[in-house]
Amino acid sequence: MGKDPLFVNKVAGAVLSAGLLALMAGFIADQIYHPMPLAKPAFAIAAGAGGSAPTQTAAAPAGPAMVGPMLAAANVENGKKVAKKCASCHTFEKGGKNKIGPNLWNVVGAKQAAVSGFGYSNVLKGMGKNWEYEELSKFLYKPKVYAKGTKMTYAGLKKDKDRADLIAYLRSLSDSPKPMP
Ligand code: HEC
Repeated sequence: MGKDPLFVNKVAGAVLSAGLLALMAGFIADQIYHPMPLAKPAFAIAAGAGGSAPTQTAAAPAGPAMVGPMLAAANVENGKKVAKKCASCHTFEKGGKNKIGPNLWNVVGAKQAAVSGFGYSNVLKGMGKNWEYEELSKFLYKPKVYAKGTKMTYAGLKKDKDRADLIAYLRSLSDSPKPMP
């Protein structure tokens, strides 16, 4: 070390230039990876230029999760408990009377608004579908959204698990329960 009087200087120089190099590299990398901010976000430009960019489909899901895949593992006993929320307006047993709402025996797969002797709203009468699993799920998730103007003044059952359990229970209320989805 003592042999080269400039050794310390050389080392210092090397360190300095290495540091400088690193700084420059960093600066260049910055220019490459963080170029000047664009006037508009790049994705907006892409969406505009693409014309058919799927801006709507990217929005949050509007309805409930599919209940079909949850039914096989659903808990009918819990569904029966959840159904207590409905009992002020509905009966569940075979031949049960209509109350504020229609009797719900054998409702899964049945035609909508088809219980005889019950005065349905026009909106439910006009839907013309069957109560398939997903239809029931969407209705029970938020009745007044599924059937705007429905007489069923029930806020809705938001918890996917409870809805699946309840629908599994409704399915069991039949002489010949519908096949699982
Ligand atoms: C405040 C009373 C009320 C409550 C609580 C209620 N419902 Fe209803 N429900 C009704 C009425 C009224 C209708 C008829 C709706 C119409 O005609 O628009 C109805 C209709 C229905 C239908 C359609 C039946 C058919 O024959 O087309 C189903 C299914 C149903 N309710 C299930 C449920 C379930 C499950 C619950 C509990 C989570 C529940 N309801 C809670 C009053 C209620």
